[in-house]
Amino acid sequence: MTTHHAGEQIARLRADRTSAKWQMYPPDVLPAWVAEMDYPIADPIKEALRSAVDRSDLGYRWPPDVPPALAEFASDTWQWAIDPERVFITPDVMHGVVTVLETCTRTCDAVVINPPVYPPFALCVEQIAGRRLLPVPLVEQGAGVWALDFEALEKAFAYPDVTAYLLCNPHNPTGQIYSEQELRRIADLAMHYRVMVIADEIHAPLVHPGKIFTPFLTVASPELTAVSVVSASKGWNVPGVKCAQVVAHDDLTVSNLRTSAALEVSFGVDHLGVIAAVAAYRQARPWLEGTRERIAANATLLAELLSLHAPQVGYRVPDASYLAWLDLRACGLGEDPAAALLERGKLALYSGPAFGAEGNGHARLNFATSPEILADMVSRLSASL
Ligand SMILES: Cc1ncc(COP(=O)(O)O)c(C=O)c1O
Repeated sequence: MTTHHAGEQIARLRADRTSAKWQMYPPDVLPAWVAEMDYPIADPIKEALRSAVDRSDLGYRWPPDVPPALAEFASDTWQWAIDPERVFITPDVMHGVVTVLETCTRTCDAVVINPPVYPPFALCVEQIAGRRLLPVPLVEQGAGVWALDFEALEKAFAYPDVTAYLLCNPHNPTGQIYSEQELRRIADLAMHYRVMVIADEIHAPLVHPGKIFTPFLTVASPELTAVSVVSASKGWNVPGVKCAQVVAHDDLTVSNLRTSAALEVSFGVDHLGVIAAVAAYRQARPWLEGTRERIAANATLLAELLSLHAPQVGYRVPDASYLAWLDLRACGLGEDPAAALLERGKLALYSGPAFGAEGNGHARLNFATSPEILADMVSRLSASL
């Protein structure tokens, strides 16, 4: 493994990047925890941001360009027709989720999530929006496949207190995308039991070549109360500039968001976020294509490296994005292998149990990096076992 080369790259990234990924841990720790990519951002985004700074264009945000830019991208990419009038701007995806929950549900309501899932889901539902949480865990089917439990989902939707479902598609951390058929089943159940669907689709631009992503709203009947929350932040690696989008599906949600939340939603959006989002959707599609290929190549490389150097680690190549959900239960590292890997291997992964009890014995590894750094990660991992 070419770890010497990796060392130089790591030193460069640590010197260049003052973001959380690179500054959270001491210099001897290789960070693979938070979902930021190590790749340089797209030139059109760089140029748009640089030009704004050069022109002292750092005033209050002016978001009207974002909805049509998103609509063009969604139409060209997924044949998803978005009405720009139904797009609301929000600083980031989780802020959007909280705003929708606060606007469209009541404090006594309960919200369904499917753990293991992105840890801020539980945090935002319970501690920020103040709603109750009803976890309906994904069911492990072996070989790294986690399936939705439709029977349990229906039971949960049937509770009168359950009024919303927070869907994660593509799913973080499993990296799976739901099929059109599964999404239709969700939409039918939600319609039947009058449950609002909040689809977090932030990872959708990073679906791997050859895989098909179906936007949830394209399978929802017009009466279903639903939103999709999307952003250029993950796909184009600009989470530090703030401008995510909530696409409201039905008339009721549009009017709820317009009357009670629109202004509040837009306060924290920043002008650089608006500029980056428009440049991403309109001008940085070739960069996205290249990045999807790079990520898919690393997803396969990771499988090869693990089978050679750490065959006891379970890993299924994801359908989308750059997060590997590693099953370390056969490695004897206990409930939270990330803690042991940090201590023994100086490798910082995202702790599995943070995603729910279903994540015990697991850890999430971010492989949006160079093949050399990825090899270094596996080398640190295997040396810790
Ligand atoms: C599923 C999911 N939702 C939301 C976020 C966070 O997005 P934002 O920073 O726009 O809130 C992430 C970040 O990794 C994520 O994986």
